[in-house]
Amino acid sequence: MNKFTVDKDLCIGCGTCAALGSGSFTMTEDGKAEALENPTDDDGTIQAAVDSCPVGAIKLSDLVV
Ligand code: F3S
Repeated sequence: MNKFTVDKDLCIGCGTCAALGSGSFTMTEDGKAEALENPTDDDGTIQAAVDSCPVGAIKLSDLVV
């Protein structure tokens, strides 16, 4: 399973990750992204979200692409 986290200290709330990977990321009340517990997007989508984050706030581990 993919493991990824959002570093809320880095996240500026641009929302790209949630727009690209709505099955894996959600925006919270504080205006920042959060990784969903049971992501449903494929690895490529998650990788695209990681690559699209302007501040590199999404950290991956164990991603098999
Ligand atoms: Fe935040 Fe990056 Fe997503 S800034 S909202 S983690 S694309």
